[in-house]
Amino acid sequence: MKIKKVRGVKDILPGEIEKWQWVESITHSVFSNYGFKEIRVPIFEYTKLFSRGIGETTDIVEKEMYTFEDKGGEMITLRPEGTASVARAYVENKLYNPPSLTKLYYIGPMFRYERPQAGRFRQFYQIGVEAMGSQSPSVDAEVICMVSELLKRLGLKNTELQINSLGCPECRPQYRELLKKSGREKFEELCNNCQQRLDRNPLRLLDCKVETCSEIAQELPKTAEHLCEKCDQEFSLVKELLTSANTDFTINFKLVRGLDYYSKTAFEIVSSDLGAQSAVCGGGRYDQLVEEFDGPATPCFGFAIGLDRLVSLISTDDNPEIFRKPDLFIVALGEAAEKETFKITQNLRKQGVSVDRGYESTSMKSQMRKADKSGAAFVLILGENELNSRTCPLKNMSDGEQKDISLETLLADAKSVLISPT
Ligand code: HAM
Repeated sequence: MKIKKVRGVKDILPGEIEKWQWVESITHSVFSNYGFKEIRVPIFEYTKLFSRGIGETTDIVEKEMYTFEDKGGEMITLRPEGTASVARAYVENKLYNPPSLTKLYYIGPMFRYERPQAGRFRQFYQIGVEAMGSQSPSVDAEVICMVSELLKRLGLKNTELQINSLGCPECRPQYRELLKKSGREKFEELCNNCQQRLDRNPLRLLDCKVETCSEIAQELPKTAEHLCEKCDQEFSLVKELLTSANTDFTINFKLVRGLDYYSKTAFEIVSSDLGAQSAVCGGGRYDQLVEEFDGPATPCFGFAIGLDRLVSLISTDDNPEIFRKPDLFIVALGEAAEKETFKITQNLRKQGVSVDRGYESTSMKSQMRKADKSGAAFVLILGENELNSRTCPLKNMSDGEQKDISLETLLADAKSVLISPT
């Protein structure tokens, strides 16, 4: 019986995985320069963590969660995002003691039951960041600069940083009422979805993709024009700091984000190279979530990058170092040479040399083809004669030059031999 993978998931195979590893290693390096530490949280949690944290009226909670009852009768959900889990871990492990800014990041799979299409999966991966414990707008700016720097280091082009302010519990209720009022005036023209959620979640009217709603949204009151004085000042400071760091941005008044926990600064990074699912990264400030989970008042700022989308934008031509090639390939001809090759490869690998080899004594031609395909810098040929003389031809694959080398010289200091064989 042939069993296929589930719809909306994928295998990441050699040839592709190197890009993921390269992105992840640069991520670890950039984030650690900013003082962020990795956290690993479970991929499943009690369902109520997400329904309370993300919001009952969001698409994720209403339609997209992978939820099941476990054998003990508990309602469990595969995490659709990382922020709620990190906030739970922050409270449960009292990471607020001693009080300071806690800077965390995570890389891992998330699960959403969405309609699969290019760039949209049911199991996808995120690189997420949560800076917890400061309301300073400089944290917003610093975290946005960090993700911009990461995308730059990865060589991404054609991206746009869009920002908006969603206001706070002081000014948002008035703005919501204003939106509801304007929405009601155009009620008949709204799509079904927007009609249904107008009272519960009027902000979503702003980012509805249905054409009539999107046209109506152009005329709706804009969040950033209805901020209280404090939110207005803080948003101005975020913009000022981004400008001072030469981080280009545009203001997108329609940017509201699809999760309920946000307030104040919200942002997305979109790429014109991605097609319909153009958001590579999304995030913002969420100042109430930790309290929602019975933690102390903890203003937070964070984001998540869609790793699948990010990797699809990485060019291997511009970054040839992504594929690590063997330093040496050993062509082993005959049974005795094979045995010796086993010993030599073990020895060289212990010296930190990356070695591949031919197996099962296939012909010289077929092993040379494999050596070529592996991209190895050097090829060593080991047959019966070479074994007797302990001297082998070593071919430099970049210029085709071939020299004889004694096995003892190679084994004594493989790294220097393979840099400049004599
Ligand atoms: P989000 O906007 O739901 O935010 O997701 C962040 C990113 O994950 C998106 O911009 C997109 O690149 C990627 N993504 C989302 N759904 C899919 C999917 N089905 N297939 C492929 N990629 C996808 C959050 O998840 C928040 N937790 C971000 C955050 C962290 N806010 C504060 N801290």
